[in-house]
Amino acid sequence: MPVDLSGPLMSAFRKAKKEFEEAIKKGDKETAKKKALECARILKQLSKYDEFNRESYLKKAKKWEAIAKEVEEGHYGVKRKQKPIKEGGKSGRGGSEAGADEGDQFKRYVENLIAKSKVKWSDIGGLEEVKRLIMETVVISALQRPQSIQPWKGILLFGPPGTGKTLLASAAAGSLNATFFSVKASNVLSKYFGESTKIITALYEVARERAPSIVFMDEIDALTTKRSGEQSEASRRMLSTLLTELDGFQDKKSDILVLTLAATNTPWDLDEAVLSRFPRRIYVPLPDKKATKEIIKINTRGLDISRLDLDAIAEESVRRLYSGRDIKNLCQEAVWNMIREENPDLHKLAELPYEKLRRRSLRTRPLEMRDFEEAFKKIKSPLTRKDIERYEKWAEEFGG
Ligand SMILES: Nc1ncnc2c1ncn2[C@@H]1O[C@H](COP(=O)(O)OP(=O)(O)OP(=O)(O)O)[C@@H](O)[C@H]1O
Ligand SMILES: [Mg+2]
Repeated sequence: MPVDLSGPLMSAFRKAKKEFEEAIKKGDKETAKKKALECARILKQLSKYDEFNRESYLKKAKKWEAIAKEVEEGHYGVKRKQKPIKEGGKSGRGGSEAGADEGDQFKRYVENLIAKSKVKWSDIGGLEEVKRLIMETVVISALQRPQSIQPWKGILLFGPPGTGKTLLASAAAGSLNATFFSVKASNVLSKYFGESTKIITALYEVARERAPSIVFMDEIDALTTKRSGEQSEASRRMLSTLLTELDGFQDKKSDILVLTLAATNTPWDLDEAVLSRFPRRIYVPLPDKKATKEIIKINTRGLDISRLDLDAIAEESVRRLYSGRDIKNLCQEAVWNMIREENPDLHKLAELPYEKLRRRSLRTRPLEMRDFEEAFKKIKSPLTRKDIERYEKWAEEFGG
């Protein structure tokens, strides 16, 4: 995987474009040509990092090459003498190119955040209350109701890693058949450094157009203002746009559902401004024994588990502070232990052509306790009691 350099490249592009414009103003042909070619080069590089907009970048790069040629031949800007080059303007070809159809570009980017979700509520073990709350929100928004009754617009899910926050958001979208936008705050921030506010605006614009929509804002703590460094300015701006969106759109059209679900592992990093927009803050805890058993069943579907002592496995999982993700991994390990035992020559089949493989089937047997005993050795929870206490304390103080 190449390192994503699109953020710095975008800044470099803007700088080159500005220098180009200055050179044009001064009549410095030589520099203008150099800068136009630099713009083209950067756009070509950008096309490698952003497959969604690759074509558009390449097209723009071509235009900049044409501009360089026009400059060299001395007829650049001749037809547009009265038109100053404006940032973001749509005054046709030429210097304004970088900003042209920028809004569309962001909308296109946002369209690519739309994810198809096939997750169902029944894929989630435990978390009954959370499920109910989200279901209620979704249903209320669709029902005829007095104006004073409004569904929640923002729900914050917080809890340790791997407890089902992303899963919940996907299930909400899947069950509703809603347009599901999956946004990782840190991703948007780094990818479009300095442009993230435009993404947020475009995001909610498209979300409203395609309502009912669920905007899933993962790692919302990445937007916290508590951190320092260069990124904090960009995150601050992105955050304030997000907060405005969360405040704003209910008045415009109250009967469409655009539900923002935000998730974080570090709720204590969030400041008041964010928290106040998420009046519902839901603790997504580690699974208890009952939930653990459900998660084991979900992750061993299609296999015979009648010989397992689920209570014993669940108790051990809870004792080890396993998250849903850990339990899933545990089951996978156990299943693999069984498969390897039953199919010792499995790896040798790798030689066979795909068609032949398709005709064979895997040998299985009922899962045994020893499969799990082996598996337990491999799965370690990163959490300590102290971590859990911290979540519980925060939940008590700020949750609800
Ligand atoms: N309650 C659950 N029921 C069933 N499976 C679960 C549950 N919780 C977690 N899992 C399993 O663990 C995987 C990871 O869960 P998910 O991505 O939802 O965690 P998360 O809370 O979003 O974690 P993170 O905070 O690290 O983003 C899921 O894909 C699922 O297989
Ligand atoms: Mg997640």
